[in-house]
Amino acid sequence: MNDLRLPPDFLWGTATSAFQVEGASQEDGKGLSIWDVFCSTPGKIKDGSDGTVACDHYHRYREDVDIIASLGVDAYRFSMAWTRVQPQGKGAWNEAGFAFYDRLVDALLEKGKQPYLTLYHWDLPQALQEEGGWLNRDTCYRFADYAHEAARRFGDRVASIATHNEPWCTANLGYGNGQFAPGFTDPAAAVQVSHHLLLSHGLAMQAMRGLATKAKLGIVLNQWTADPATGSEADRALAELEYARSVQWFMDPIFKGRYPELALRHHGEHAPNVVAGDMAIIQQPIDFLGVNYYFRAFCSVEQPPRTPPLENGRTDMGWEIYPQGLTELLLKLKEEYPLPPIYITENGMASSTPQHDGERIAFVRAHLVALAKAMEQGVDVRGYFLWSLLDNFEWDSGYAKRFGIVHVDYETQLRTLKDSAVWYRDFITAQRANA
Ligand code: FCB
Repeated sequence: MNDLRLPPDFLWGTATSAFQVEGASQEDGKGLSIWDVFCSTPGKIKDGSDGTVACDHYHRYREDVDIIASLGVDAYRFSMAWTRVQPQGKGAWNEAGFAFYDRLVDALLEKGKQPYLTLYHWDLPQALQEEGGWLNRDTCYRFADYAHEAARRFGDRVASIATHNEPWCTANLGYGNGQFAPGFTDPAAAVQVSHHLLLSHGLAMQAMRGLATKAKLGIVLNQWTADPATGSEADRALAELEYARSVQWFMDPIFKGRYPELALRHHGEHAPNVVAGDMAIIQQPIDFLGVNYYFRAFCSVEQPPRTPPLENGRTDMGWEIYPQGLTELLLKLKEEYPLPPIYITENGMASSTPQHDGERIAFVRAHLVALAKAMEQGVDVRGYFLWSLLDNFEWDSGYAKRFGIVHVDYETQLRTLKDSAVWYRDFITAQRANA
């Protein structure tokens, strides 16, 4: 442990999202979200489950805050369910919904834990979906209204507000390949949706800035490096395109006010419809960038594509374990963009080991080593959030994949610390002692 030192003021955290943990999907006036509807569509969720109860965090949040406190982390990242606070995605606010987040935020603050709020972790109000969802430009304005209200109520109590979590997933998995809600398979729609997500981010930033809240404002992107599988020109070109379509597609508009040329050319007639002034709205200064890192892209034109060498193995999701990709990614970002402080807002692994999850400890440790390497080379990273606090509803995988450092028995809702939770707690203590 001693060879790994992060700065004394480095922020340690853990994360969840609303739909994955809250349950209470129809309580206290909550409206239906696209994930409620998607789960009820046969065949969409591998184990046929849904978010009706999940980790019952809506009722057990106090116990969960106690667990967070016992881990000794500084911060907890969670998301607000838009449908809890505005059931139809426009019009009336639901006070009972806001009251839940009041209780949660106050409970965290009482324990001295900093709340890191995400406004949109994929659970669009179904009522807005029925009007076209993120394909409808009007949804961007509805999102800005919601952001304004959330920031007005919570902006002085939470440390940070992120507009979106992983808009790449919303666009490409929600509208491109149908893996996620709302389940469309229309790649052209996915491109337009990605533009609307970025626009909604910019509009929300403007709306929140107007309030001059104390909270730091930014966005959370999922990112990876893209490596060619071989030295061939075709694999190299594929890797370059992959990086342009994923990382640069979201970073360039935010930091440079334009889409990357290579990806635009690739989209051709499916390039997004951009209204004059949109790019200026998207290119708002942000106070922080949240980076979620799980794996790299390994790009092969062969069919079937070549698999990566898997020197460190795979997680239970089948994802390659590739910690050095985190160093490479951060160094690349630093070279390409005028970055604000970065937080690693998600990193972690799925593992089926119920309690003695040494593989998760090794995974987290290796990624922290990779992170420290990037920081030694000048990347300004301020914090790390381990995904996830609890085993939870892992989207189309249902409850079959477990990312928690705390085990959840879904029959009894009993929470049990896994070895990784104990390790994380001791590791954080040791980091502070070394400070
Ligand atoms: C990320 C999501 C998060 C969780 C992890 C495993 O893409 O943001 O909700 O599902 O993956």
